[in-house]
Amino acid sequence: MRPQADETGLSRAPSDFSRYSLTMHTANLDWKNLGFQYLPTRGHVQCDYANGAWGQPVFKDEPTINLHIAANALHYGQAIFEGLKAFRAADGSVGLFRPDSNARRMRLSAERLCMEAPDDDLFVEACRMAVRENMEFVPPYGTGASLYVRPLLIGTEPTIGIKPSDTYSFIVMVTPVGPYYKGGFNPVEALVMLDYDRAAPKGTGRAKTAGNYAGSLLPGLIGKQKGFPIILFADPKENRYVDEFGTSNFIGITPAGEYKTPESSSILQSITNESLQVLAEGMGLRIVRAPIALDTLDQFAEVGACGTAAVITPIHAVHYHRDGTEHVFRFGDKDVAGTTLTTLYKQLQGIQYGEIADTHGWLDKV
Ligand SMILES: Cc1ncc(COP(=O)(O)O)c(C=O)c1O
Repeated sequence: MRPQADETGLSRAPSDFSRYSLTMHTANLDWKNLGFQYLPTRGHVQCDYANGAWGQPVFKDEPTINLHIAANALHYGQAIFEGLKAFRAADGSVGLFRPDSNARRMRLSAERLCMEAPDDDLFVEACRMAVRENMEFVPPYGTGASLYVRPLLIGTEPTIGIKPSDTYSFIVMVTPVGPYYKGGFNPVEALVMLDYDRAAPKGTGRAKTAGNYAGSLLPGLIGKQKGFPIILFADPKENRYVDEFGTSNFIGITPAGEYKTPESSSILQSITNESLQVLAEGMGLRIVRAPIALDTLDQFAEVGACGTAAVITPIHAVHYHRDGTEHVFRFGDKDVAGTTLTTLYKQLQGIQYGEIADTHGWLDKV
């Protein structure tokens, strides 16, 4: 059930937002040196579900929530989230990138975890509200930075016997983040983690749920200790196919002009990947969604990891060890990203920052 907006909530007339919508006023931050970490903002949006209905989204100028010690999310993991960005264009306007897709994905995650999700309108409206209320934290155009938007849904009912929560909080927090690659669009090496799975074949890999990330911390740390900034998971059933990177999807470009990405039941459906596929098709590439065997990685001229945080991370080598033998696949130049992935990256960023016409209607002007 959707709430009826009133003057305290989302139905405020557009003119009420005029102080935000065209403001170029920005917080006093070192925009060019932002990292990818939490920075305090004005506040967050919260909306609660109880007695079978969602209440009004409310803006709260504090960074904490009041949560029962027995809340389902804390004990039984009813916790799902999303990640998207708001970008400032040269004219000062601000756009959220494809929030409707994140709304849809949150509904799918909620279904898998027996949670009550906000409908798409409520989701998008709460994201817009969180951005509007934090307009001074949307980084200025030209800094390469953006406002990261993190919608979170948690089961809040005190629960001891395991069951789905009857109450939920939907929260949208934001924080400004810098460009992922300060030193440029530099290729990195990836390690395939055959000793650990990210998700089970029929498990929760398709849901953006907190537990998936807790489970990937240890293999991620092991990868870093071995000198790899990014790890690649194999399919959890046979350990023979590419699944996805720790927090991004796998994409590969073949010399024959194909854009290949794994078909798997245990990976997150990346919105960046979906968007890149549309752009790749427009560039004349053929999109192939199919299982990709690890021992066929030599078919690729270019490999990338794609996701909201970095758009594309070019991968110049993938390493894996099986039966005591190290296998290494190399793609293109060690120091320079391939031309196809570079073009795709520039096109998507160009659309996000309003430099290239948004012909697909991906930007939701806040
Ligand atoms: C496991 C995983 N795969 C893929 C992605 C990329 O998804 P998106 O492009 O929607 O950010 C993410 C990031 O959200 C992720 O955490």
